[in-house]
Amino acid sequence: MSEIRTPAAGDDHSRDDDVVALLMRQHGDIRNLFDEVEHSEGDERRDAFRRLVRLLAVHETAEEEVVHPFARRSLPGGEQVVEDRLAEERAAKETLAMLDDMDVDDPKFLPRLLALRASVQEHARAEERYEFTHIRRSTDAAGLAAMARGVKAAEAMAPTRPHPGVESAAANVLAGPVAALMDRTKDAVRKAMGKDG
Ligand SMILES: [Fe+2]
Ligand SMILES: [Fe+2]
Repeated sequence: MSEIRTPAAGDDHSRDDDVVALLMRQHGDIRNLFDEVEHSEGDERRDAFRRLVRLLAVHETAEEEVVHPFARRSLPGGEQVVEDRLAEERAAKETLAMLDDMDVDDPKFLPRLLALRASVQEHARAEERYEFTHIRRSTDAAGLAAMARGVKAAEAMAPTRPHPGVESAAANVLAGPVAALMDRTKDAVRKAMGKDG
């Protein structure tokens, strides 16, 4: 029995009108969920892994829609920085899809999960270093808040706490394939940022 419980996004009191604070918190939630998956088993591991997959999917989608376009336009050397991050994200998505097709009790599951964790952590550190710090320096409060609206719309698609017995359209989408969740998240982010499809 695991005592680890990752708090739901929005449970804490961190500022939610600063896109960098929000994304840093998601990086923390992702790290905690990897621990939760590692240290649980059976149904508990299955549930924690679903939450991890969803959070990773909406987090990366939000970054692709909100953060990378800004970094590409506004940071010195932004084109290259973003190309590097996108390559890391593509590699992570491939590993994720492979894991997603595998049962959590498969003996190959844990080694692959740990490999994914290492690359996701490295990717997150690179984002924090090459994108987030510069975004804070080059953006005013209104700009940070505008980007935060997009990230919050994405986050609403991926509750990080278990939600037993929830039967709703949203829950059905969450139970479906990762690609569908990414599409829905992209639409939600664009709507929140005032852009249409
Ligand atoms: Fe990312
Ligand atoms: Fe990230």
